[in-house]
Amino acid sequence: MTQPSRPPRPRVLSGIQPTADSFHLGNYLGAVRQWVAMQDTHDAFYCVVDLHAITVPYDPALLRRRTRIAAAQLFAAGLDPERCTVFVQSHVAEHTELAWVLGCLTGFGEASRMIQFKDKSAKGGAEQASVGLFTYPVLQAADILLYQANQVPVGEDQRQHLELTRDLAQRFNHRFGQVFTVPGPYILADVAKINDLQDPAAKMSKSSSSPQGIVDVLDESGVIRKKIARAVTDAGTDIRADEAAKPGVTNLLRIYSALAGVSVAELEASHGNVGYGTFKRELAELVVDTFAPVRERTEKMLADETELDRLLAQGASRASRVARETMALVRDRIGLLLPLPAG
Ligand code: TYM
Repeated sequence: MTQPSRPPRPRVLSGIQPTADSFHLGNYLGAVRQWVAMQDTHDAFYCVVDLHAITVPYDPALLRRRTRIAAAQLFAAGLDPERCTVFVQSHVAEHTELAWVLGCLTGFGEASRMIQFKDKSAKGGAEQASVGLFTYPVLQAADILLYQANQVPVGEDQRQHLELTRDLAQRFNHRFGQVFTVPGPYILADVAKINDLQDPAAKMSKSSSSPQGIVDVLDESGVIRKKIARAVTDAGTDIRADEAAKPGVTNLLRIYSALAGVSVAELEASHGNVGYGTFKRELAELVVDTFAPVRERTEKMLADETELDRLLAQGASRASRVARETMALVRDRIGLLLPLPAG
């Protein structure tokens, strides 16, 4: 008997930078957790974007190490190489090739308006910023469009880059004929911006000034407990969400809600009067229960680099098949003379 044919699954692509020794709670709740869920509903491609990581000063040996750590954490967090494609961006050369083509369709003024470039370049002085940092969002657009992704699961900070990606896809299709799927953002409001534990007005970020404000996925359990116990809370003792008056407690409520699968309103009802100490202790245990197994699995994967590299080669080979197909179409449409096979 023949199997009934199933409609193809929507395609998803997302990426994460290997710029730290561990992902943090914001990366996990804002992105990686959705990636794990979507591997069962989507045709999913996830990449460690090493070429994005070299847009700012970095150490080569550390980059190589962190690329493996990033990949190991993705598998450890639940990405299954049989159910989705995990790869390293630089293993698929078409990313940079398409970035060049899209860069030629991007206005200088348009690229200048990207908030993340403005923020990052302001830190080191705009004169010091690299051209690579400036064209960073164009490479990100290439990552997404190469795979004809329908959806891109990310945190709120990536929204503007996705807008640019959509504009570039539409512009290309308009000028050269339909080639690219126009992707939509997949941003879950409740977890789209997890804030710093020490500075709850600011996004939790790898570049934060105090490590105490960031909970890392690979932190030891004792460290996680300490960081949460010391999280900044607000005046009063009641536990309720109020972005303006109680930003610290509101952030903790969001994290608790996401990890426990209980709404913030339900938490306010059940925990409104338990006091900050009890609430934080419960939250710390939730985070520890989530991250301790990920840390253990990450360590195991890193202990066998040969196997990890094999999984990444398998991912790159699957990704390349799709990327080559898209790029062949792009080269033809934009009018490049196609070379004859040598020999
Ligand atoms: P990156 O490496 O900075 O972050 C990875 C993902 O984590 C999300 N995120 C957060 N979500 C909620 N709260 C936070 N505090 C928080 N901090 C980070 C980010 O939104 C992101 O989804 N430019 C991208 C990487 C990239 C990419 C792509 C993403 C390159 N190519 C193609 C999607 C598709 C970045 O810097 O992510």
